[in-house]
Amino acid sequence: MKFDPLFKQHKIFHGCDYNPEQWLDYPEILEKDITMMKQAHCNIMSVGIFSWSMLEPEEGHYNFEWLDKILDKLNENGIKVFLATPSGARPTWMSKKYPEVLRVWENRVRALHGGRHNHCSSSLVYRQKVHDIDLKLAQRYANHPAVIGWHISNEFSGSCHCELCQKNFRVWMKNKYKTLDNLNKSYWSVFWSHVYTDWSEIESPSSIGENAVHALNLDWARFNTELCMDFCKHEIDTVKSVRSDLPVTTNFMEYFYDYDYFEFAKILDFVSWDSYPQWHVFKDQEQTPLYTAMNHDLMRSLKGGQPFVLMESTPSLTNWRDTSKLKKSGMHKLSSLQALAHGADNIQYFQWRKSRGASEKFHGAVVDHVGHLNTRVGKEVCELGSILEKLGEIAGSRVDAKVAVVFDTQNWWAIDDAMGPRNIGKKYLEVVQDYYKVLWKHGINVDVIDETCPLDNYKLVIAPMTYMIRGDYANRVTDFVRNGGTYVSSFWSGIVDDNDLTFLGGFPGPLSEVLGIWDEEIECLEEEETVKVKIGTEEFDATHLCALIHPHGDTKVLGTFNSDFFKDYAAVTVNSFGKGNAYYVASRIEYSYLDKLLSKILGDCSVESPIENLPFAVTCHTRYNADTEYLFIGNYSDKAADVALKESYEDLLSGQQLTGVITLKSYDFRILKKHK
Ligand code: GLA
Ligand code: ZN
Repeated sequence: MKFDPLFKQHKIFHGCDYNPEQWLDYPEILEKDITMMKQAHCNIMSVGIFSWSMLEPEEGHYNFEWLDKILDKLNENGIKVFLATPSGARPTWMSKKYPEVLRVWENRVRALHGGRHNHCSSSLVYRQKVHDIDLKLAQRYANHPAVIGWHISNEFSGSCHCELCQKNFRVWMKNKYKTLDNLNKSYWSVFWSHVYTDWSEIESPSSIGENAVHALNLDWARFNTELCMDFCKHEIDTVKSVRSDLPVTTNFMEYFYDYDYFEFAKILDFVSWDSYPQWHVFKDQEQTPLYTAMNHDLMRSLKGGQPFVLMESTPSLTNWRDTSKLKKSGMHKLSSLQALAHGADNIQYFQWRKSRGASEKFHGAVVDHVGHLNTRVGKEVCELGSILEKLGEIAGSRVDAKVAVVFDTQNWWAIDDAMGPRNIGKKYLEVVQDYYKVLWKHGINVDVIDETCPLDNYKLVIAPMTYMIRGDYANRVTDFVRNGGTYVSSFWSGIVDDNDLTFLGGFPGPLSEVLGIWDEEIECLEEEETVKVKIGTEEFDATHLCALIHPHGDTKVLGTFNSDFFKDYAAVTVNSFGKGNAYYVASRIEYSYLDKLLSKILGDCSVESPIENLPFAVTCHTRYNADTEYLFIGNYSDKAADVALKESYEDLLSGQQLTGVITLKSYDFRILKKHK
């Protein structure tokens, strides 16, 4: 295992999106920025994300002087920079002169100029213009001493349906299927007479046209992942043509649906993401921290556990959620340290200073309109900055999980798109989170992987609702269990192949042997409907979907349904297979049962909680470097909580040696360390 910090600097970075181009008419403000950045212990800024119109105010006429000054000044003050390429939003003159850079929506109407993140990724003009500005930036700044990485574009998303994109889609399809016959067979296109007789007949899915061929919808999403990656790669190649060793990223988003990030991450040197959790919105105080925790774990797992960058977060509120709630005092520090606990080496915000006008003038920022840091938010950011400064030794340490949860984006697309068996909500993410929650509440490190990731390093792999079995996944699961791994599967698994064609000969298709069951039918429950499951002498509620299964001869039945016509059907099974075990949970059984089941399995797999019996909304996660273990404990509840340490630890911030029971106030945290 490597313990290299991302940017070879043994520090945790703290900083923001810095948009000085909004303030060029206010020199006194720019001057003050640097002083306050130091006050806030900021050592990194992402610069230039939406600067194109200030960098190239007229076509081919560039103005870099302002950026020269900013970068020099940041450098003189020891502040590093992620330099952005500005392709996330283009100047007005460009859309006017070259309308083809504008995106065509799925209803085949071309957008007018406006907004952002809405270019056509196929447009040769746009690619040329992006190349030109990126090259200029790279030539001027790739060797600037402040610049430590590239922030390519911003939050890539969506798709364009213009003629050029259609053409590229057809080429992509031809490459994939080679013959129309293959394509038609894979698409089951005889159904409703959707047979293609010429490649030119292929059109992207649309609400006013074809939208019921599921494999087409899947391919369109895959194509758009690749097209966007190709666009991003075009930018990466441009900046790397000047200096190849400067690392690149693009900022990813929360449980992102448009593209497959496990594919996308392959072209990046490091992963970064923008996290805007809805703190204090939900009654259940565990909901937001665990939802966010799983997303951090997913981001870290995209590049095999390498530390990631929290590129954006808000120090206070967003202005685009239904309700714009402030972070209560303490939550900003806690939520930032949560990212660190899950493997981040950087804590950054959108944005340094609140804009004066336009759509994000009320979005939280480090510096409010008042213009100083003597604010509740400013003070907490400064305090966090001084804490992060003391955590340099953690940079580069790894999370090292022995448990993985499978959450596969392509499977998600396929589950949602399929008609049936529960059109009021398939709830793939929620079901995966049911299982993740148990691990989170036990303080167990978890990787969140997809079906393409290696399984061999884990003791336990939990993979609910693997409806679509991609590539050789089933073989790898079978080998994993045969070699001693423990696998947990659930209802609605092993139903279709990569093309959304169902497996013939009985579900769960290629997982049948390892799971030791035949899944004959699936019953859909109404939103409030429950059925009973009997496990030993106890009874639990189950909701959502119920797979009606038949265990094979040697498969052990751990529990049965206890209501309706499928009473006595197996509800939970385990098949011992080779040296390992494969569990199957046939319905969405309530938390108290999942906790019992997984606790037993974790014990069998010798995966221990670093702290037993964590109180409500308190969790812990561990990072490791070569000889030290760092335990991050956080209390997300609005009440104080007692935590019983199993061993003696040093409190990294106070230097105190701690043993026994420690008390954490509401939103408090501890970072404890001990030698391995
Ligand atoms: C996104 C964008 C930022 C900003 C923030 C506001 O993450 O990347 O430019 O709009 O949202 O929350
Ligand atoms: Zn297009």
